[in-house]
Amino acid sequence: MGAVNIKIMSKHKIKYICSNCGYESLRWIGKCPSCDSWNTFTEEYIEEKKSSRKKINIEPHLTNLSADGSKDEIRIKTNIEEFDRVLGGGLVPGSVVLIGGDPGIGKSTLVMQAAAGINGTVLYVTGEESANQINMRAQRLNIKSDTIYVLTETDLDLIINAIEKNDPKVVIVDSIQTTYKPDLENTPGTITQIRECTVELMQAAKKRNCAVLIVGHVTKEGMIAGPKVLEHIVDTVLQFEGEKSYSYRILRSQKNRFGSTNEIGIFEMQDDGLHEVKNPSQIFLSELDKEITGSVVTASIEGSRPILLEVQALVTPSAYGNPQRVATGFDYRRLSILLAVLEKRANMRLSSQNVFLNMAGGLRIDEPAVDLAVCCAIASSYGDKSAHKNTVVIGEVGLSGEVRSVGHIDKRIQEAIKLGFQRVIIPQNNVKSIKVKGAIEVIGVDELKSAIEKVFI
Ligand code: TYD
Ligand code: MG
Repeated sequence: MGAVNIKIMSKHKIKYICSNCGYESLRWIGKCPSCDSWNTFTEEYIEEKKSSRKKINIEPHLTNLSADGSKDEIRIKTNIEEFDRVLGGGLVPGSVVLIGGDPGIGKSTLVMQAAAGINGTVLYVTGEESANQINMRAQRLNIKSDTIYVLTETDLDLIINAIEKNDPKVVIVDSIQTTYKPDLENTPGTITQIRECTVELMQAAKKRNCAVLIVGHVTKEGMIAGPKVLEHIVDTVLQFEGEKSYSYRILRSQKNRFGSTNEIGIFEMQDDGLHEVKNPSQIFLSELDKEITGSVVTASIEGSRPILLEVQALVTPSAYGNPQRVATGFDYRRLSILLAVLEKRANMRLSSQNVFLNMAGGLRIDEPAVDLAVCCAIASSYGDKSAHKNTVVIGEVGLSGEVRSVGHIDKRIQEAIKLGFQRVIIPQNNVKSIKVKGAIEVIGVDELKSAIEKVFI
């Protein structure tokens, strides 16, 4: 009998990896035990790592903290003010920044404009577009530069090679999903590929002390594929977002080793690229010049800047037992809480009403200081009474209907004065600490019901 040679041991192992958080499992599972997301497991090859180094005889390179720390911090400016501010003052040499966002939101446009603003050589690697397409975009953006080198490549080894050869100050990789390491069996875009490529780019950044900007796409679930996996590796995670129907785009920082995560950058997408919005208050206020029900202006602090914006609510009777609640640009759960508070503390029968809430201009607000304006907008639409057009409403609302004090009150009032508002309704507890006075009538309120009455005409 001839021997049958059965190859039992395979060179690779198959594992299932959660595309959201990188959790590994030997079996396919429907729900990730680590991040609780459903249907995120994909099959990937895991290559056995052979440890070839048994004994390390290399002298480690140690640096003295005091010697290195005394150096002035060097930042590479993109010379786009909104971008630099979100970065914490510019790109840090040797660091890796990940920019995520929906396809078509303007990531490539943003990084191309940043490349043009950088003083020094930039290697722009793209696996998404052809050289011709890149040229067309550059023409549209009116960019002519002899310090931007474009490389249309997806093979990471060749990209690293180009970094070694050209020694750029900044490397842009658009996008991480198209980049792949050829010695891995996995297809481009899989967690293993994305992770390995990012790690290698990070090593290149550290070695050559250049800044690396990585573009990443967002998955259907609204997250960069493997965000949690990459979050640990990269230094900064930025999110470029906006409503498709508006031209405004917001750059937010989710993680930043070298700056605040509160800052946002606001841009407007026009025919010739992204334009910075230096005075954002005006764009988030209504274009209408007359009083309408359900519309109240508030002042929010985004990062270090105050922004005046309009809160719009529409309250309509629900025909069937199940009323709808829709919140755009505002936390849905927070809306439910405020509706319950209005019902209980201001005697509004909202449980039989549909409530639609919208932050004008496509802005997303997570700050409790807009609570009172949200309540007033809902009350205005519910009671069919208009709010004073020249009034700004500020305050957090507590569960017992009390209006709680908020931070940065002076900045908010200052902005209201700057834009010509005549009245501002603020928490009573904030009144004493105000320094700006005179040019605006300040009304202190301590409780929801009376606050609402003061807002109406
Ligand atoms: P792009 O930067 O390609 O988006 P991403 O890289 O995030 O996929 O931008 C795509 C959109 O932006 C596209 O719909 C066209 C629009 N756009 C403008 O409106 N003006 C411009 O100057 C440019 C370059 C693009
Ligand atoms: Mg793109």
